[in-house]
Amino acid sequence: MKIAVLKEAPGETRVAAIPETVKKFAALGASVAVERGAGEAASISDAVFTDAGATIEDRQNLLVDADIILCIGGPDLLSGVKQGAILVGALDPARRADAVKGYAEAGLEALAMEWMPRITRAQSMDILSSQSNLAGYKAVVDAASAYGRAFPMMMTAAGTVSPAKLFVMGVGVAGLQAIATGRRLGAQVSATDVRSATREQIQSLGAKPIFVENVAGIEGEGAGGYAGETSAEYKAAQAELVSSHIAKQDIVITTALIPGRAAPLLVSDAQLATMRAGSVIVDLAAEAGGNVEGCVAGETVERHGVTIIGTRNLAATLAADSSALFSRNLYNFLAAFWDKETSQPNLPDDDEIVKAVRLTKGGKIVSDRLLVPA
Ligand code: NAI
Repeated sequence: MKIAVLKEAPGETRVAAIPETVKKFAALGASVAVERGAGEAASISDAVFTDAGATIEDRQNLLVDADIILCIGGPDLLSGVKQGAILVGALDPARRADAVKGYAEAGLEALAMEWMPRITRAQSMDILSSQSNLAGYKAVVDAASAYGRAFPMMMTAAGTVSPAKLFVMGVGVAGLQAIATGRRLGAQVSATDVRSATREQIQSLGAKPIFVENVAGIEGEGAGGYAGETSAEYKAAQAELVSSHIAKQDIVITTALIPGRAAPLLVSDAQLATMRAGSVIVDLAAEAGGNVEGCVAGETVERHGVTIIGTRNLAATLAADSSALFSRNLYNFLAAFWDKETSQPNLPDDDEIVKAVRLTKGGKIVSDRLLVPA
């Protein structure tokens, strides 16, 4: 059983294996081959991979006899692969229909890790959580770096520096980490979400919940922890609440996402105009259309004196940590289905996790989500 680790496309700094997972796969009886230079951007040299027991190979040799191919982002073209080889990573099937078709035609069994179901058994395999957590932290660090003032209150002989007021919009995995990081840096933190269960989570982190009252949002955790669309009445009440609160904020971190839809617009241009010059917004939903009017994915722009940061793929800016967590998610997934007798994964057709992540098999697209679009 040969496991191949791809070198990612330019711009992606992460790598889908680390020395620890190379050793763990070896303990399961597999051999690991890493594409030359795959770990460089994540500070893992070929020599370090070799020390962990991996071989270093060029793309062609790597793929020709690989049984499992690990990647971060799904590759566009994979020629020269073995029929029935497993491809596993963040394959982005919703946006890459042609690539998924190509995987089927190449005879690959493609497994999309972002479609992992939110069940207890799959928590250690959840790449969305592991990467969002790091992104939430980095959003606050980037905001602090771009902010021309300090975060904590400082009482000095030359006078007092006021604490920064930080507002987190969308309290999922990234938002919770943004609250925790903002608090550690000494900011006064408040936060909002449409899911009522987050109110207590915000309070437990020592931040102030800012919630629409008297209009129903989404009860409890929401389906599978995800938000859905809210009513027009709720949206109007939320906009009014945000308007009165945001004018007093220095830093805003937005993370609001609705699966399968464009990100909800939470901060309008008119609301931006009420903020103090020098304020900073980091929009973690930039790639999904943005929560902030005027945000440009992949760029930092200024509007009404407010800096709006729309970095794509923020987790990849912490390449060593994000690679480590992603690699462990991949290992935990494959190890959970590993058949020790045959030294290979056994992925049953009727397993809830397999059904959710499997896109292609036997030359065909087999995912229900792709065959019957929502
Ligand atoms: P997400 O990335 O889909 O969305 C981020 C946040 O934005 C969510 O909290 C959502 O409610 C909020 N949001 C959406 N529309 C909004 C609006 N109009 N205004 C304000 N906020 C809005 O969510 P994420 O971070 O992936 O996870 C959400 C929850 O799912 C977590 O807090 C957790 O409870 C649960 N979860 C469970 C897992 C498991 O059981 N295996 C794994 C990961 C998360």
